[in-house]
Amino acid sequence: MSELNKIALKILSNGKGILAADESNGTMTKRLESVNVPSTPENRLLFRETLFSSSGMKDFIGGVILFDETINQTSNLKQTIPELISKSGAVPGIKVDTGAKILAGSHEEKITEGLDGLRERLKNYYKLGARFTKWRGVFNISDKYPSKLSMHSNAHALARYSALVQECGMVPIVEPEVLMDGDHSAKTCFNKTSEVIKKCFEELIINKIDLSGVILKPNMILAGAAADKKISSEEVAKLTLKCLKENVPTDVPGIAFLSGGQTEVEATENLNLINKHNDTNFIMTYSYGRALQQSALKFWSKDINNTSGTQKIFNHRANMCTLAAQGKWSKELETK
Ligand code: 13P
Repeated sequence: MSELNKIALKILSNGKGILAADESNGTMTKRLESVNVPSTPENRLLFRETLFSSSGMKDFIGGVILFDETINQTSNLKQTIPELISKSGAVPGIKVDTGAKILAGSHEEKITEGLDGLRERLKNYYKLGARFTKWRGVFNISDKYPSKLSMHSNAHALARYSALVQECGMVPIVEPEVLMDGDHSAKTCFNKTSEVIKKCFEELIINKIDLSGVILKPNMILAGAAADKKISSEEVAKLTLKCLKENVPTDVPGIAFLSGGQTEVEATENLNLINKHNDTNFIMTYSYGRALQQSALKFWSKDINNTSGTQKIFNHRANMCTLAAQGKWSKELETK
């Protein structure tokens, strides 16, 4: 077993999942302002360390993705944030892309940037304690999109990123997110997501990536947020599994879904059914941002010093997701 494979399994095994707390300052400002909390470095740290020091970390969370600001912060408990996360048994990770910019040649689409100077930045993050990383490519669906250009360019960037990350002894999360925005059908989402994931692995293989040391972070197969016709959770699970079985090489140890705008319970229910029907060798778990933090953030915003109340809500959410990652969740457990 390679060292990279060991790290990936440490993050994903036993129903554990990933807390995606890597919102950029821009996104975090939107989240905090939506609950009327000023977005200062101190408040961003306070919310995040409230989660990172909760008891649920030990039982449910295998990895935490951080943003550059947070990995460099020291917690109010006088330890660095990566130390606080490692103490709970979880692996510290870091988002290393520098965001999605307009794609020259196809102005309605995005290309994720951040390759320049990446090798040096990775060495620094490794020193700070990171053992895995994230890079998100983003694709929108319409009649024309995603274009071949966007699929090719983003897949190529994901592969070059992955090569540099593995060279530095860390596990790359490869995140090609096909957005829920739009009124497309689930079938269209299935077709476009399949094409995107296939292209990503073609590029990863050309770039000689050790696939046993990669975590894929895809979207689930859903109808667009504005679509008239939604599909059931059973259908989401079946289509998502079909898409992954057809397009992900079996050497990949695990898949950690993004929540992408689903509610907390939707994201949990869909993951649970994916695991109930999982007839693959892939570990299927979560790497949720909003679907792990939304309720906790709302509660915290009313009294930012109520640490134990906020942690209780976070622990419950992480517990539900971890049950779903083992196919052991049920709706009744939500209210217990
Ligand atoms: P959501 O679960 O809120 O979609 O965030 C996951 C993520 O990391 C997106 O890049």
